[in-house]
Amino acid sequence: MPRKVIIDCDPGQDDAVALFLAMASPDELEILGITAVAGNVPLELTQRNARMMCDIAGRKSLPVFAGCERPMRREPITAEYIHGNTGIDGVDAFEPDTPLQGRHAVDFIVETLLAAEKGTVTLIPTGPMTNLGTAIEREPGILDGVEQIVSMGGAMREGGNRSPSAEFNVLADPHAADIVFNCGRPITAMGLDVTHRVLSTRERVARIRELGNEVADATAGMLGFFHRHDTKKYGSEGAPLHDPCTVARLLRPDLFGTKACNLSVETQSELTLGHTAVDFWHVTDRPHNVHWAYEVDADGFYELLVERLARFGERE
Ligand code: RIB
Ligand code: CA
Repeated sequence: MPRKVIIDCDPGQDDAVALFLAMASPDELEILGITAVAGNVPLELTQRNARMMCDIAGRKSLPVFAGCERPMRREPITAEYIHGNTGIDGVDAFEPDTPLQGRHAVDFIVETLLAAEKGTVTLIPTGPMTNLGTAIEREPGILDGVEQIVSMGGAMREGGNRSPSAEFNVLADPHAADIVFNCGRPITAMGLDVTHRVLSTRERVARIRELGNEVADATAGMLGFFHRHDTKKYGSEGAPLHDPCTVARLLRPDLFGTKACNLSVETQSELTLGHTAVDFWHVTDRPHNVHWAYEVDADGFYELLVERLARFGERE
């Protein structure tokens, strides 16, 4: 029985690959809806980009919703310097056939979770958690419908990628992240500590390009663009493939090592706003509200990604 999921994202090349990985896995994941949020680029682009990926993957019937266009409390920040002005530079942008649903994403999330049987829907936030935080604040009762949350955000050993102490998704909406991480439902948090270890090296991108189908070509093109900034910044050979780690965790939990511990979000300090204080060594008595991902089989991750992207060729 496939797991029902809602993917909440801000495409973003890595969000796009997470969408492809989920769309390639219908036996394991039933995508109830894709909800877009402002993040890497403004909402009108993230929703368009999500719909573009549905077109490219041949999944034009997937419902895509536009959500919050600004964070819950703080001023917006974006990341065009990493993702390009379209948010998915590396593929040519086009106006997709996949329609944008009329309902606001937060309304879709609330209505879907209130109607769901208890504990049956998995939430996969791969951008700022504004849509989820807003939904939970508006209607806490939706949490009964949530089986678990697998999020991309935060950092412990890796430090910050947008400020010295904060990862982009959490910094972009720390108040929403605080609501989500303290909502009481089971959360697996994929932070920079694992995503910085799944690097889209030239060899790995070449393997994806060799698949020779439209989705793989789009993926290789986006990764070819996406890595230029991080390679220079970290001196690494390839950009970290952040968001697909969430979907990979659901498909192959064995690829990741996690530890139950407390994650608390800094929502006040100007200096460290968005910092995720992960009590990995249990030095406090704070509740263990997340399973923090701290190790990953990077080769196994890319084996999975290549195997699933190859499935789009079987369709052609
Ligand atoms: O810090 C990495 C995260 O921020 C990824 O989800 C990327 O897409 C951006 O949203
Ligand atoms: Ca993202």
